[in-house]
Amino acid sequence: MNRILLLGGSGNLGSEVLRKLQLMDVEYVAPQSTDLDVRDWYSMQTYVRDFKPDWIINCTAWTDVDGAEDSFEAALALNETAVRNIAEVAKQIKSRIIHVSTDYVFDGTSPEPYDENAQVQPLNKYGESKLRGENVLLDLIPRMSYIIRTSWIYGLSGKNFVKTIAAKALRDESAQVVDDQIGSPTNARDLAKAIISITNNPLTPGIYNFSNRGICSWYELARTIYKKVGADPTLVKAISTSSLSLKAKRPKYSLLSKDKWESTGLSKIPEWEISLASILPEIITEIQRTGQQ
Ligand SMILES: NC(=O)c1ccc[n+]([C@@H]2O[C@H](COP(=O)([O-])OP(=O)(O)OC[C@H]3O[C@@H](n4cnc5c(N)ncnc54)[C@H](OP(=O)(O)O)[C@@H]3O)[C@@H](O)[C@H]2O)c1
Repeated sequence: MNRILLLGGSGNLGSEVLRKLQLMDVEYVAPQSTDLDVRDWYSMQTYVRDFKPDWIINCTAWTDVDGAEDSFEAALALNETAVRNIAEVAKQIKSRIIHVSTDYVFDGTSPEPYDENAQVQPLNKYGESKLRGENVLLDLIPRMSYIIRTSWIYGLSGKNFVKTIAAKALRDESAQVVDDQIGSPTNARDLAKAIISITNNPLTPGIYNFSNRGICSWYELARTIYKKVGADPTLVKAISTSSLSLKAKRPKYSLLSKDKWESTGLSKIPEWEISLASILPEIITEIQRTGQQ
């Protein structure tokens, strides 16, 4: 029976991985950040050597993209140093790692979907910190590492774009959303399923892209949410990224090619609209339950 250590089980993605683990016949632990700080080398050593997982699923990260511009050291502490802590102890006990990375390792100038071998060139500090984390794994334990690059994660837990927009739609509020960033959303539930499928059918280690199929802008995604919620989609107004004066630059185009993942024959990747429709009723219930603004 697989022993699995889940790190970051309270986040957008980690909470969906946790839900899957709870339904499986595996031995798992999912410590809170208050019980195990992944930046703390000694705590990581003690905890991991004690549990001896076959797999470590790392869903922890510094995910504040704009905040990373001014707090780069703090972002690196989670996105690079903590990954090194995890990799070093994993190497000692021969545990495999599934680590999550991002489309923000790319600069967005490609005319076609980014595959796993495409040139990396982060535009912002967050992307740079995540790239450094990938490199730690590829340097230290390349034959034990699965790096999943993904984009635009949303789900039931935490704060995310789909929940924020759905909450606005439910209140018949207007929303201003950028139409000049193109990519694909990722339902955390689909990605969690993909991650778990690797623990059951280990692939050749390396980098794999995973996001939902299809392509859209944030604006198109927002309008689709309004329509599915039954609100007036014309309440969503298109704006440009530059009008937001954000600290961090974003790639204009970050669609990930999923050919490599699909060639594995593991979990199927649903179209983003179909996947969104499948989970939106639960997201609405969650918004109503928590009174999210
Ligand atoms: N969100 C996106 O759109 C997106 C897009 C592309 C890639 N990704 C990547 O996908 C992964 C998951 O993202 P997410 O959106 O699910 O992240 P998230 O919701 O921000 O969750 C981050 C998790 O990290 C934990 N954490 C933070 N500091 C920690 C520490 N010092 N020690 C232990 N745990 C700590 C948090 O725990 P607490 O709740 O206790 O702080 C939380 O469980 C990340 O690698 C991210 O870079 C995300």
